[in-house]
Amino acid sequence: MEIKSLLHYGVLAPSSHNSQPWAFKIGENNLEIYADFKRKLKEGDKDGRMLFVSLGCLITNLKIAADYLGLAYDFNYLSEPTGLAAIMNFRGEKEKSEKYFKAIAERRSNRNRYKDMLIPEPNLKELENLNCEKSLRINFITGQELKSKIAEISSQAMGQAMSNRNFRRELASWLRTNLTMKKDGMPGNGHGISLLVSFIAPFILRHVNVSKVEAKKEKKRIMNFPAVGIISSKENNPASWLKTGELLEMILLAAQSRGIDSAIRVAAIENQEAREKLKNALNLKGFLPQMLFGLGYAEKEAPHSPRRKIEDFIIS
Ligand SMILES: Cc1cc2nc3c(=O)[nH]c(=O)nc-3n(C[C@H](O)[C@H](O)[C@H](O)COP(=O)(O)O)c2cc1C
Repeated sequence: MEIKSLLHYGVLAPSSHNSQPWAFKIGENNLEIYADFKRKLKEGDKDGRMLFVSLGCLITNLKIAADYLGLAYDFNYLSEPTGLAAIMNFRGEKEKSEKYFKAIAERRSNRNRYKDMLIPEPNLKELENLNCEKSLRINFITGQELKSKIAEISSQAMGQAMSNRNFRRELASWLRTNLTMKKDGMPGNGHGISLLVSFIAPFILRHVNVSKVEAKKEKKRIMNFPAVGIISSKENNPASWLKTGELLEMILLAAQSRGIDSAIRVAAIENQEAREKLKNALNLKGFLPQMLFGLGYAEKEAPHSPRRKIEDFIIS
């Protein structure tokens, strides 16, 4: 029963296009976590990086919720072709911890404008110190010069992605109206879109090449973040993407606990040329960028996005 209640917190994790690409088998004393490859984005996530990063975010939520409930656990990491990504084994009880628990339900992607307000240096240091994996690196970029290089790289990558009709079609298929009853995908209001526009946005996206407009917007968005975070890893495989996701969500939750909003932007990560340019701009010798996100204080609150029912995720 308690294992099932953990899932309610797990699935509040961010996922690419809110695809929620996970499934679970509940055992007597363990929880098997599967990648749901049917929900992988064929165009937006060709190699599965974003799917595994999303699963990593889910794992962090499960860990924090288990700490809160006082459940002792360990994790076996696997990357089975069947989709079995990890097994959470439960080993009785332990002292409860509330750390970051509240932030799980409070966090959401905030795509509104950010205030012109710097994040205090000690807060960024605290977020940086959350990385205890030698195979990962986190960089926070606050300087204008480097930020504008990253903005330019992201903008070009966004322009390229949006000029691809198949990419736009796929994105449109995950966009929802503001009145949606569907339990996955992205309602327009999460993108600052009005009710009326939320009905026509998928049509426009499918049929109009919006690449120039979106490239311009992307540059502005990146420049508007007081801090841009980039997580890089030594390896480039499902295991390292999972670890990237775990660190990403830990940073987003810790930031949320300090009242810092966040928004994930992966155009430059999903484009090989742009990824190389990011690597060079950050002088990341031996590490490859796997995730890019902005942090700051948004001008408006962001709405929560929907989630599927827990029963829909459970496989027998
Ligand atoms: C791996 C990954 C990639 C994402 N990429 C983007 C992105 O490029 N642009 C964006 O606006 N949101 C991006 N998101 C945010 C998701 O759209 C968001 O998590 C999802 O819609 C659920 O909403 P929530 O974060 O508010 O819970 C990404 C999230 C993840 C985990």
